[in-house]
Parts: sequence; C-alpha cells; structure tokens
Amino acid sequence: MNRIVTLDEFILRTQKEISSATGELSALLRDIGVAAKIVNREVNKAGLVNILGVAGSENTHGETVQKLDLYANEKLIDCLKNSGECAAVASEELEDFISFPNVKGKKAKYLVVFDPLDGSSNIDVNVSVGTIFGIYRRKSKTTGPISMDDFMQKGSDLVAAGYVLYGTSTILVYTTGNGVNGFTLDPSIGEFCLSHRDVKIPPSGKQYSVNQGYYLKFDLEMRRYIDYCSDSNMGLRYIGSMVSDVHRIICNGGIFLYPNTRKYPQGKLRLLYECNPLSFIVEQAGGQAITCQLERILDLDVNHLHQRATIAIGSSDMVKEFQEFVEKYSAIPSFSN
Ligand code: AHG
Repeated sequence: MNRIVTLDEFILRTQKEISSATGELSALLRDIGVAAKIVNREVNKAGLVNILGVAGSENTHGETVQKLDLYANEKLIDCLKNSGECAAVASEELEDFISFPNVKGKKAKYLVVFDPLDGSSNIDVNVSVGTIFGIYRRKSKTTGPISMDDFMQKGSDLVAAGYVLYGTSTILVYTTGNGVNGFTLDPSIGEFCLSHRDVKIPPSGKQYSVNQGYYLKFDLEMRRYIDYCSDSNMGLRYIGSMVSDVHRIICNGGIFLYPNTRKYPQGKLRLLYECNPLSFIVEQAGGQAITCQLERILDLDVNHLHQRATIAIGSSDMVKEFQEFVEKYSAIPSFSN
C-alpha cells in the first residue's frame, strides 16, 4: 500500500523546500483546508434540510437553518480571521472587503478572495458545487490599513489559488505557482490525502462545456465555434457550476466557455474570485485561459471587486483553436444579431 500523504504534511514538506518560506502561507492554506472540511460536512447534509428544516427557518432542534452559501462564507471568514495570517478577505457574498484585526501582534501580509459556494443553485438538486479561492500578497505596508487598491491586483499576481469540489468525493486542488496537486478527502480519517500529484491537463479533449441554451444570444464567432464542436462529434457537458466543469476539463481535457450574452455583455463570471484563481490553476496545469475577446485572463486589470469577465478555459490546443475561430469570424459583420 502506498504511504498516505495528507494535505498538511504536503504543505509542510513543500514549505521546507523553499528556504525563504516563513510558514505563513502554509498556515493559511491549512486554515482553508479546515474550512473546506467544515463546509463539506454541511454540504453533505444539504439533502436533510427538508427533514431538519428549510434554510431560513428553524429545524426540529429550534436552530436557524442558514443558506449554505452564507454558511460557507461565514466559516471561511471565521477560519481566516482567527489564523492571524490573513489581513483581509473579499467574497462573492460580501459587497465590500473585510479587514481583520491583528492576531497576537502578527502583521498579516496576505489577502484571500473567494467564492464560498460556486454553483449554489445546484445544491437543492444534489449536484456538485465548489469553493474557489485565491491568495494575494497585500501591496500596502503591513503597519497601515488595507485599502481597495490592495485587492486590485491582476491574476498574474496571485501567490496561490485553489478550489474544493464537493462532488462524489470531495477534492481540494491548489497551486502555489509550482504545479498543481489534488487531495481527496478521506471521510474515515477526516484528512485530505494526496490523490492527484502534479496534475497536467491533456492538450486536447473530446468535450466542450457551455450553456448552449444561450446559443442565439452569442456573437457570430461563438456560434460558429459551437457549430464546429458539435459537427466534430464532440460531447457537450455542462453542470452549471464552473468548478465542477473546469475540474472535469482538468482531468479529461476539453474547453469551458462563458461568453458575453445580451444579458451579460461583460460575461457573467467574476474575475477576481472565479476566473483568476481557476485560470492560474489551469495555466499551472499546462492549459490556457483567455477572454472571448482573446486577452489572457491573468493579464486583465481588476477595477472592481465584483467585476465580470468572459472566459474560454481549458486544454491548450482547444483554446488556441477557439482563438483562431474568433479571429476569423469576428471580422465578419453579423446580420443576425
Ligand atoms: P451560482 O453560484 O449563482 O449558481 O452561479 C454559478 C456560475 C458558474 O459556476 C456557472 O458556470 C454559471 O454561473 C452558470 O450560469 P448559467 O446558469 O447562466 O449557465
């Protein structure tokens, strides 16, 4: 039997390989691992809310049942606030960022951005959801207050990023810019165990992932590319939770698209805590991530915490091919829009 390597052990081992490492980032990653286990426990019980009480109501024990995305948000904040390694957080569930007071005199130098429960509309129907996170070093001095400017960093400034997929198994995947590794939660011992070492995305795949229901709302070049995928006998897979769709693509190869539509002219997905962390991971695994206007996601300026972006992400050959379609067809005026 192979020796089990837990997430904590792996983080510590990796830290020791970097002579300048202070252990602060390691501690932060471990805190996120703890929060993920707590959220996982609640996600697994989601089907019981009908028995124990509906979100917003009281369960049979007289406890208020919270919506899971708010619960996940709260747990992540709690774990990060108490660690002393995190100076501030921004989340999909928060209008503004939250700064944390110093813990035991430590001057925290990291910021964490996250989507606590991506694809949360899937919860009610027992389909996979996930947590996405990104870690930045603060730009301002650790002696002063955090400002909005600290969060306005490009994806290429990310120090670490990861996601947790609450699927048939729960898996935590992360990178610190030196490859991607995945850890599957073994519920019997309550530990994330290394299961996917040095993950690499196949350069091509047989599936594409897009909400094809919006076909008529997409630009011409997007429709031509989707026609091409369909004509090439590629399979269409779309879960409606970006983490789940991107995880499948990381494992099997493929491409995920969320283009601009009439309803979302800038795209729907959020740059800071959805597109950037997943793009960092995908690039680290050998894939590519660009907007549907062909800019590299990680190079985009961030001007707003909740800024949206279009995205094409996945296997490198497929993203390149997508790019060729956009270049070819976006030059042709569309008469059907
Ligand atoms: P939410 O967390 O509000 O359910 O949004 C999920 C996101 C993303 O994860 C998914 O890929 C996309 O929105 C789905 O949007 P459509 O339903 O428009 O396809």
